[in-house]
Amino acid sequence: MRAESGCEVHRVQCLARVITAQEFTQVAMMVASTERDLKLMHEHYSINPEAFWSDPYPDLRSIQQQAPAVEVPELNAILITRRDDIYTQEKRIDVFSSRQPGGLMTVLMGENMMRKDGAEHLAERKVLMPSLSIQTVRNIWRPLFEQHTDQILDKLEPAGQCDLVTDFAMPVSGEALKLITGLTQMKATEMDRVSQHMIDGCANYAGVAEVETRCHEATRFIDDHIDQMMPLLAKTPDSSVLAAQMASGLNIDSIRANIKLVISGGQNEPRDAIAGAAWALLEHPQQRDKIVAGDASYRQVFEEYARWMSPIGMSPRQVARDENVLNYAFKTGQRVFFMFGAANRDPRVFDHPDEFDITRDNRKTVSFGAGPHFCAGAAASRALIADVALPKLFARFPGLRINGDVTFGGWAFRGPLSVPVAWG
Ligand code: HEM
Repeated sequence: MRAESGCEVHRVQCLARVITAQEFTQVAMMVASTERDLKLMHEHYSINPEAFWSDPYPDLRSIQQQAPAVEVPELNAILITRRDDIYTQEKRIDVFSSRQPGGLMTVLMGENMMRKDGAEHLAERKVLMPSLSIQTVRNIWRPLFEQHTDQILDKLEPAGQCDLVTDFAMPVSGEALKLITGLTQMKATEMDRVSQHMIDGCANYAGVAEVETRCHEATRFIDDHIDQMMPLLAKTPDSSVLAAQMASGLNIDSIRANIKLVISGGQNEPRDAIAGAAWALLEHPQQRDKIVAGDASYRQVFEEYARWMSPIGMSPRQVARDENVLNYAFKTGQRVFFMFGAANRDPRVFDHPDEFDITRDNRKTVSFGAGPHFCAGAAASRALIADVALPKLFARFPGLRINGDVTFGGWAFRGPLSVPVAWG
């Protein structure tokens, strides 16, 4: 880059010898803007990883103000944080590719559809989508989500208190995911455990051996459950992702990899969103009053919570070819993070973005992504969280209140660590 800069100045100096004063001014301006561009191409920002994990939003705001694309050395990635940039650039799969053959997710969980581009990705997405469509969710899954949620609330009620994360949101999410994946012989607690261990494995950039071992155990455990269920589903197919993939004739490696993708992406986000959105309503009683009065809906609560706290704050890409865009000289092979969490609080798009306001216009949020990998589980999440879990929780316990400290953690996946509540 420095060599290019020197050449540019030399080229301009040579030209300046034979040009007029007016032209000289123009050339000088060109040099200045080139130097400014080259400077922007080196934007970087340093974070304290622990502070970033506890609360990424102050750093994300600074990064977003600094430049459209900023390298964060501690994350070994270039972060794109502005909402409209993500909305545009995520669709440019020729530059920002999902293919990351050497990436931890592919190595540990197999090559799933989220790590593929174009026709290859679409072919697998088409196989999965009938299991996750609005119609299937409405006709098949939602009545079952309701049954499981009622049973979980029945068990909780006599205790008068619980931790919303582990005692309510986790089993609600786990039971739903058992149905959707087709791995119905797994327990909800096991679903939560294997999901977490795979997520930890995929973020294990430091190569901690114990984390890697737990991730391998989790994937083996899932493979065992897939092996148990395949003969049963061959005889009696259902609407699950496993049954749909088997019927399509997809190869077994892809089937396994996509089941692991659905588990790693489909357990902790609904869990965190159910507990987090319930906490947000309890913390903002005036907003809860709007729900009670019928002036706002739980769908609005969920969409606003997903904007405000972005359960998935980031999706990674790999630069597929050299490209100068967003004032940054991207080089082939570099790692890029689309920062949905930052985009959802972009003040260019959202007024008072740090405030939780269920009545705001949320049409421009990117909580589920903004490109071809748009969350395949969006309809299931909306039904489970907004139509079933939150309304049933608040209807069952009208006197629900916070009963202890609540802390949040994470930036790639963000949610409350525990939400102690009491009722009655
Ligand atoms: C609060 C709930 C959820 C949120 C906020 C969420 C968010 C996201 C985001 C941000 C992405 C990446 C999009 C991109 O890169 O453009 C994604 C992808 C995905 N999600 Fe979700 N998700 C949620 C729940 C679920 C559930 C319940 C399932 C499955 C049952 C699921 C399955 C998937 C799959 C399969 C993909 C990859 C899609 C593809 O590659 O085409 N998600 N999700």
